[in-house]
Amino acid sequence: MSVIIFEIFRYDPEKDEEPYYKKYAVDCTQTTSIASVLRKIKDRADGSLTFRKGCGSAICGTCALKVNGRAVLACKTKISDLVEDMHEAEQERIEIRIEPLDNSDVIKDLVIDEKPFWEKLKKVMPWLNTNITEQDEEQLMSQEEVDAINHAQDCIHCHACNSGCDTLAEDDGFLGPEMLTKVYRFVKDPRDNSTFTRLEIAEKGNMTNCVRSYSCIDACPKDISPADKIAELHEIAYDYGLKDTRAARHAKHFVDSLKKTGKLDEKMMPVKTLGLGVVGFIPDTIRIATKGKMPPLFNRKIKGHKEVWDLVEIAHDKKEAKKER
Ligand code: SF4
Ligand code: FES
Repeated sequence: MSVIIFEIFRYDPEKDEEPYYKKYAVDCTQTTSIASVLRKIKDRADGSLTFRKGCGSAICGTCALKVNGRAVLACKTKISDLVEDMHEAEQERIEIRIEPLDNSDVIKDLVIDEKPFWEKLKKVMPWLNTNITEQDEEQLMSQEEVDAINHAQDCIHCHACNSGCDTLAEDDGFLGPEMLTKVYRFVKDPRDNSTFTRLEIAEKGNMTNCVRSYSCIDACPKDISPADKIAELHEIAYDYGLKDTRAARHAKHFVDSLKKTGKLDEKMMPVKTLGLGVVGFIPDTIRIATKGKMPPLFNRKIKGHKEVWDLVEIAHDKKEAKKER
């Protein structure tokens, strides 16, 4: 047993003008979970500390929060995941910081407002739309079809993936990794008859704006890899004929630039992707220019351009071959 110091985010909008951090010393072993630490503090030191916890078994998704800057499930994260050696923790007075998830409003302390997530969830129709009736025969799925959705349907809606998402931080209209994973789950289900509508919803939910920071992959306690699901949704949307969309135009410009010069023509990306919509970004462009961050005006052909394009073609052929298998 060692004493570890926990620095915890506190904020009660009814009393506090600003959030602050409060320190608590808690007896821990290697196997003490963060959820148990919070329970101990609430029971023995400070009954006003507010947090969410349900199943205690990484199933219900209610206990996600940030520990030392990373989104985790409090019930699944043990002290041994954070501190290698308890003895060292005691000697060096290691501190562990606990905060609410990012990209959300705080209701109190570690409790975030989940309403915006549930509103977005309704938009993506999280149910099967099918013509199959009770009178029809049992609809058997192949193992491959089951495998394709199995992983995505493990999502427990903990919102951890949304926390580190750079796009959600800037764009309220972005559905986010959690909801796009839900879209993927039904798009890949052969019994569902609303694939096209779902892909349109994803497109209207700004799926193109995903910047692939991959923080959602890091955060997901169920190893679902939401960013990969979003990338696959782009491809499926294209195959379904959604070609005059932001996602498709974005991908097309990417490929066209590589073919022409061997590198991405960054400055033309907003124009090619957004068309006239780019006008709304003029203030941002001016801001970028004044900070000296403008990409080069001319996109010159790079040395090794042919090799780059050969690699693109090899990757494309491999992907096509995989689809046919
Ligand atoms: S995809 Fe993973 S991190 Fe995101 S809500 Fe689902 S379980 Fe949580
Ligand atoms: S309490 Fe249910 S997932 Fe942590």
